[in-house]
Amino acid sequence: MSDIAIKAVGLRKVYVTGFLRKKFVGLSKLDVEVKRGETFGYIGPNGSGKTTTIKLLMGLNFPTAGHAEIFGHPIGSMAARAKVGYLPERPYFYDYLTALEFLHFYGQLLGMDKAARVKRIDELLPMVHMERARDIQLRKFSKGMLQRVGLAQALMGEPELVVLDEPSSGLDPMGRRLIRDVILELKRKGTTIMLSSHILADVEEVCDRVAIIAKGEIQQITKTSELVGHGLHGVEAAFENLSSELALGLGFGEPTAHAHGRVTFLVENHERVNALVRAALEAGGALIRVTPQRQSLESLFVDEMTAVDRKDREKPT
Ligand SMILES: Nc1ncnc2c1ncn2[C@@H]1O[C@H](COP(=O)(O)OP(=O)(O)OP(=O)(O)O)[C@@H](O)[C@H]1O
Ligand SMILES: [Mg+2]
Repeated sequence: MSDIAIKAVGLRKVYVTGFLRKKFVGLSKLDVEVKRGETFGYIGPNGSGKTTTIKLLMGLNFPTAGHAEIFGHPIGSMAARAKVGYLPERPYFYDYLTALEFLHFYGQLLGMDKAARVKRIDELLPMVHMERARDIQLRKFSKGMLQRVGLAQALMGEPELVVLDEPSSGLDPMGRRLIRDVILELKRKGTTIMLSSHILADVEEVCDRVAIIAKGEIQQITKTSELVGHGLHGVEAAFENLSSELALGLGFGEPTAHAHGRVTFLVENHERVNALVRAALEAGGALIRVTPQRQSLESLFVDEMTAVDRKDREKPT
């Protein structure tokens, strides 16, 4: 049993299109390993190569160079496919089937017998909040409803690896929360997950590691736990009952905000915030909150993209 869920070595995709056989690099060179049980985020700007990577891993596109494995099986092989549940970026459905028929059909493709299919569908439809729409044809579904059925389909065979290409696109806030909860539940059960999404707050919340891809290459891979630790950008503390004079007199510089009867300070670290709180309480202030300011995945992403742009501009032409 392989403990490496996804392994890619020098994976590359060049699209050749049109009469003039124009070349587009979809994925420049990908080297990556995702461990069993890991939740791996894959983020990057539009056109950076996320869907290309995922399609290669799913065996839906042929690589131009390099190779990759899913749990030790070459991508595209039946053994690799059998391990994976996949929600495409633009799911294609058989319009005239109902949700129930569609899931049965898909279960049959996976070789599940009727009893197993019924049992699994009964678990999945409530999970994606679609029990009431089970007998409605897919062509009558909204985009968000299709996305939910797509997720149910991806989970039909209880796959060891679930690959989600923008699962939250087109979903309302409740739907987005649902996706997040489903991912967290899968994670608890030890399922490996690869998640591509533009909703960075969700990626940050559910993923163990996140790769940032730009221009067909991974620029960096970050552990979300390290994002919390190393990215500490100071600690914010807010107080009530402190006049401007008292606040200034504390000796912690100018407050960063003074509004609605509240004074907010930003200090460098936890030691400084302890001292600040002590001084403010002594001066008669009341502590409202203390919030560590940390680097968010979003700010890391923006920094990385700025660096990529700068490198691009500095390239000799
Ligand atoms: N079938 C194709 N033929 C030609 N070029 C393609 C094809 N599919 C993708 N590309 C190109 O490959 C690059 C990567 O596209 P890809 O779909 O992988 O991006 P993405 O990161 O998934 O973007 P998005 O966030 O918009 O979904 C783009 O420049 C795109 O134009
Ligand atoms: Mg995409």
